[in-house]
Amino acid sequence: MKHIYKAGAQPDAPTILLLHGTGGTENDLIGLAEMIAPGAGILGVRGNVSENGMPRFFRRLAEGIFDEEDLIARTAELGSFVDAAAVEYGFDRSNVYALGYSNGANIAASLIFHQADVFKGAILHHPMVPLRGLELPDLKGLPVFIGAGENDPIVPRRETEELASLLSGAGADVNTHWERQGHQLTRTEAEAAAAWFKTQA
Ligand code: MLT
Repeated sequence: MKHIYKAGAQPDAPTILLLHGTGGTENDLIGLAEMIAPGAGILGVRGNVSENGMPRFFRRLAEGIFDEEDLIARTAELGSFVDAAAVEYGFDRSNVYALGYSNGANIAASLIFHQADVFKGAILHHPMVPLRGLELPDLKGLPVFIGAGENDPIVPRRETEELASLLSGAGADVNTHWERQGHQLTRTEAEAAAAWFKTQA
């Protein structure tokens, strides 16, 4: 997958997997990662799917309606890519945090739904429930920050709450931060994620 990698400042620094929103690139969330996790390694990935020229991580049939077969296949593809990148670049695969926005947060959530130890933790900005009817793996103690909008036109409040409760039901330690700026990833939401991340280190 098209990507950018930057090693962390220290060998024991975590690696942040950057997953952009629809129409983004592997570079989009670098500034955000530097603010949330200064000194961390960075693996920014570009989604392999193009929707009218806009990169995404999986196909959708309409806004918020996912092509589940493609989502499942792309989730596996991204998981394998991160495993291979850890070998290629020599970062610690067990110390990877996901940082995703919108479509990128949705595939990060899908990875978590499929694989217990895929991340050390996750920061999900405006995620949806990626798939329903799955039995989730044991997520005991997995720290997850969710940034959401009370008035997000793409992600209704009840969907954010459903995702939080699915994750906590499987044992994750979920922290939801609410804003009132629609689907936007605001400065204050980024600051809340940074404050949360500090409590993880
Ligand atoms: C998605 O397709 O993942 C959601 O609709 C969010 C987005 O617009 O990327």
